[in-house]
Amino acid sequence: MKGAVFTEFIEFVEETYGFDTADIMLEPVGDNEKIYTQAGNYPFEELVALVVSVHITEQVAIEDILYKFGVYLFKKLVHMAPFLVQGSKNTLEVISKVDTYIHIEVKKLYPEAELPKFKVLKLEGNNLEMLYSSDKKLEILAKGLMIGASKYFNEEIVVDYRVVSEEPHTVIFNVQKV
Ligand code: HEM
Repeated sequence: MKGAVFTEFIEFVEETYGFDTADIMLEPVGDNEKIYTQAGNYPFEELVALVVSVHITEQVAIEDILYKFGVYLFKKLVHMAPFLVQGSKNTLEVISKVDTYIHIEVKKLYPEAELPKFKVLKLEGNNLEMLYSSDKKLEILAKGLMIGASKYFNEEIVVDYRVVSEEPHTVIFNVQKV
């Protein structure tokens, strides 16, 4: 997983849960120094370990941490590459373009990025139905990113999802602009 996701996660934990929790999370374990740079790439399992550490220290649900991180991450990603959202007029448009435009451009910028698959099933008026598929099972992060997008556009959306298959892990999202 991209180092930028790790460095943003560390900043997020410092801002949201405080420096003590971040320090505990970053304590070296054996040979693992837990030092991350934006340009590096690190195993996804290491991010999971950081999330679990916050979960234990703060006694908050893993889902809660990943959701809040998604909301936070959206504006940080936009800051890294503003052109990716500048062509979109609203939240549903930006979300519907994740697979066909945004992540394609991300892959050009960072060929090592391992990105999920999205597929728009229906986009009608204020309603978007979309498939998400990824072995990382990060639909709760995706939901946070979608809410982050709605905050960016100053709009309100309701996001529901349900898991429809396990192999590959596939989820149907229903996004409603209210
Ligand atoms: C609402 C919009 C977006 C959604 C729903 C979304 C969704 C996701 C999800 C769920 C992941 C985690 C990987 C996985 O599930 O397998 C991911 C990774 C990523 N996304 Fe997006 N994304 C969005 C917008 C963006 C934007 C605007 C950028 C701009 C830079 C971006 C860049 C990335 C990067 C760099 C990764 C990490 C890939 C890696 O670690 O290898 N995404 N995205």
